[in-house]
Amino acid sequence: MGNFADEINKRRTFAIISHPDAGKTTLTEKFLLYGGAINLAGSVKGKATARHAVSDWMEIEKERGISVTSSVLQFEYGGFCINILDTPGHQDFSEDTYRTLMAADSAVMVIDASKGVEAQTRKLFKVCVMRRIPIFTFINKMDRDANDTFELLDEIEKELGIATCPINWPIGSGKNFKGVYERETKCVITYSDTEKGTKEGQATRIGIGEEDALVSHIGEDFKAQLLDEIDLLDGASAEYDLDRIRAGELTPVFFGSALTNFGVEIFLQHFLKMTTTPLPRKADIGLIDPVENDFSAFVFKIQANMNKAHRDRVAFMRICSGRYDASMEVKHIQGGKVMRLSQPQQIMADERKILSEAYAGDIIGVFDPGVFSIGDTLCMPKEQFQYEGIPTFAPEHFARVRQLDTMKRKQFVKGITQIAQEGAIQIFQEFNTGMEEIIVGVVGVLQFDVLKYRLENEYNVEIRLENLPYEHIRWIENKDIDLDKLTGTSDMKKIKDLKGNPLLLFVNQWSVGMTVERNSGLVLSEFGRN
Ligand code: G4P
Repeated sequence: MGNFADEINKRRTFAIISHPDAGKTTLTEKFLLYGGAINLAGSVKGKATARHAVSDWMEIEKERGISVTSSVLQFEYGGFCINILDTPGHQDFSEDTYRTLMAADSAVMVIDASKGVEAQTRKLFKVCVMRRIPIFTFINKMDRDANDTFELLDEIEKELGIATCPINWPIGSGKNFKGVYERETKCVITYSDTEKGTKEGQATRIGIGEEDALVSHIGEDFKAQLLDEIDLLDGASAEYDLDRIRAGELTPVFFGSALTNFGVEIFLQHFLKMTTTPLPRKADIGLIDPVENDFSAFVFKIQANMNKAHRDRVAFMRICSGRYDASMEVKHIQGGKVMRLSQPQQIMADERKILSEAYAGDIIGVFDPGVFSIGDTLCMPKEQFQYEGIPTFAPEHFARVRQLDTMKRKQFVKGITQIAQEGAIQIFQEFNTGMEEIIVGVVGVLQFDVLKYRLENEYNVEIRLENLPYEHIRWIENKDIDLDKLTGTSDMKKIKDLKGNPLLLFVNQWSVGMTVERNSGLVLSEFGRN
């Protein structure tokens, strides 16, 4: 066993988030060039067939050419062991993306310089804020014409409600992209368009005081503009403050071009200096420290049929403390059982690598015989605690499920319950009935197709889905409420989740507000708890 604390302290676990097409995949691929990639899963994914995704797990995904799964990549760089949680780019799979964020200690937000803050970024960002996850911004595609830099920063501040602190500053963009000015060293790093797939070229560093060299590299006009902007920036932008960055209140901003591999290594180096080691995590007995405590982990994602040949279910867990070793017995708190984790694997895709040990900060996948649920805790047999649950994110599309062959009731209930357990869909019932009327809620509409496909292919059950007009769901926080007395709007629908918790469905935001207004003391929440 290596030095336990050293192993944990060299770990950095982060998620990459972006709106589809901002350049997340390209940036991730460039990161991997810098490290000796230890394990890759789904790293080479893309829309083009040339970059075929190894993480494809379902025909539907292949047909539509999108990536449904999140994968984990691990590589070493500069003495760090880095875990990147790649998140599905397609917005239809955002619930899984949300959960992946729960397993990360920080997030890298990739923004397309010509598009600014886009819908998907905004949604994911809300989750980071809720969990106070530090956010590092990489403004990409500077080799294309970009929006005004000050406006981009303004947009991040206004739209996302976080202060920005540029670590470097771009000089021009598109055909006129000249490089970046690094504020800390007061140096200009000139743009060099390196060959795709190679490491960063030998960029020239020029001190801001080296007038002649500067003019010959970036020209008189850009030099004058840069000096003006530096003045403005020093006066106007938030000061660099590592504590605020780590508290998720301030985002350091970097500019670059992932495609041409400019600014990527600079980003990585700064990022590694600022981001944290695996963080303590909240449990019902208090904070669990990653180094002080023995092994513990929580399940943040469950996925079925990742590999057709195996037809299995894999539970992904984030190790929160200690060291895991494959011969160890662990306790599954929610199931009340001591067990040996089956086939612990470092990464998930068509390629699987059985692992013998892992440390706090790492993500492992284990074979799940159907016992784990999202949010479950695993720890040493002598321990008894539970990690804080993962919030259930509000579905935005609802449909009533009709089963076509009523003889297959049992398979239907089993199938739909298992798929719900994986967290791809949420199922609800009419308030006053049992399982005969099922309402499904999803974060993205594509999940309806996934549900239909999987019920047919895995459980041999045919269903018909009838779309419902609701878009807003609210959990009722009040413990002692008489639902019969609740006065809502005419479009409001009362339902319950599988645990019997009451919920309300609304067609629009206005109805939500009206209902709160009409029932004094009623507390509604957008998030449920697993
Ligand atoms: P995503 O994972 O966030 O969805 O984005 P991805 O990296 O797949 O990038 C989306 C598109 O943007 C790709 O082009 C990619 O080459 C391009 N791109 C990424 N970073 C940069 C950059 O810094 N500058 C420029 N100019 N383009 C960038 P594509 O045509 O969709 O795919 P491909 O045919 O190039 O693979």
